[in-house]
Amino acid sequence: MSPDSIRTSARLSVAPMMDWTDRHCRYLHRLLSKETLLYTEMVTSPALVRGGALHLLDYSPEEHPVALQLGGSNPAELAQAAKMGADAGYDEINLNVGCPSDRVQSGTFGAVLMKHPALVADCVKAMQDAVGVEVTVKCRIGVDEQTPEDVLPAFLETVSGAGCNRFTIHARKAWLQGLSPKENRDIPPLDYPLVLRMKQAFPHLHLSINGGITSLQQAQEFLEAGLDGVMIGRAAYHQPADILCQADPLIYGTGQASDPMQAVQQMLPHIEAHLTGGGKLAQVTRHMMGLFAGRPGARQWRRILSEGAHLPGAGPALVEQALVQVA
Ligand SMILES: Cc1cc2nc3c(=O)[nH]c(=O)nc-3n(C[C@H](O)[C@H](O)[C@H](O)COP(=O)(O)O)c2cc1C
Repeated sequence: MSPDSIRTSARLSVAPMMDWTDRHCRYLHRLLSKETLLYTEMVTSPALVRGGALHLLDYSPEEHPVALQLGGSNPAELAQAAKMGADAGYDEINLNVGCPSDRVQSGTFGAVLMKHPALVADCVKAMQDAVGVEVTVKCRIGVDEQTPEDVLPAFLETVSGAGCNRFTIHARKAWLQGLSPKENRDIPPLDYPLVLRMKQAFPHLHLSINGGITSLQQAQEFLEAGLDGVMIGRAAYHQPADILCQADPLIYGTGQASDPMQAVQQMLPHIEAHLTGGGKLAQVTRHMMGLFAGRPGARQWRRILSEGAHLPGAGPALVEQALVQVA
C-alpha cells in the first residue's frame, strides 16, 4: 500500500485495544467500512523476537488496510519485530507510546517513553531502516508532572527529526503511578485544543487525534478543523455500526453506507472457518454484541448470543436465531 493511500485511510481509524481489536473484531469492522484504517492489539517486540510468538501476527487478508502496533523500547529488537510485521504484510507499523499499564512500564515502554523522546527517535529510525512501510507513533500529550504545552512539541520535533511523519495523539496525559490503565483513559482531562495547535505548529506532519470521540459527526468536525485523522476506540467497539456504517461515504466520499444485518450474514463464513479450525463461537460473537446498539431487538440479540455462544456445539445457527430478533 502506498504511503499516500494509507494516509487517506488514516482519516479515520479504529484504535488498537488489547483483548478487543483481535482479528475477529477487525474482520467485523472491515465488513462495516472498506476504508477505515484498523489497528491490531499491541504486540510486544520481546514476544515476537525472543518469544517467537508468530501467531500474534495472524490476520485475514480481508482486513487491509491494517496496521500492526508494537510495544517495546529496544531499537534493534523493535526493528526486527517491525520487519516481521512488514514481511507478514501489515500496511503500517505503529509504536505504542501511550499505554500506561504496569506490565508495560516494567519493560520501559508505552507512555513512559514520553519522557525519553531521543530513545523513541532511535527506535523509529531503526524500525524505518528495517521496513518499507510507514512507521508511525501513537502517543499521549505528556505523563505525570510534565507540561504538555512544552513536552508535546519537543517530542514531535525530536521524533519527526528521525523520520516519523505520522502521529496519533491521545489528547490526555497518562499518570504512571496511582491510576489504573482504565482510569488513565478517563480521568486525566482531554486537551483537544493543544492537539489542534500542534497541527498549526507542524503543518507538514500527519496528525490524528484520539480520546473521547463518540460520533462520526465529531470526527468530521475535527477533520474540518484541519486535523488529518481521527482515531476512535471505545465508541467504535461498543457501537460499531454508529461509527463505521456511514464512514465510507461521509469520511472518504466513496461507496455506500453498510448494513449491520448484512455484515452479520457476511460474518457467518468467517465463523464457520473459525469453528472448523477448532475455535469457539463466543470468541467471535463477543465483538458483535454492540452491533445493534440502540435498535429494537438489541437486548434479545445480546442475550441470545451471551447465553448461547459459549455452549458446546454453538455455531452460525445461533447467530441467525439472534438476528431474527432485530429483523
Ligand atoms: C480495552 C482497551 C485496550 C487498549 N489497548 C491499547 C493498546 O494495546 N495500545 C494502545 O496504544 N492503546 C490501547 N488502548 C487505548 C486506546 O487505543 C485509545 O487510545 C483510548 O481508548 C482512547 O480512545 P477512545 O476514547 O476513543 O476509546 C486501549 C483501550 C481500551 C479501552
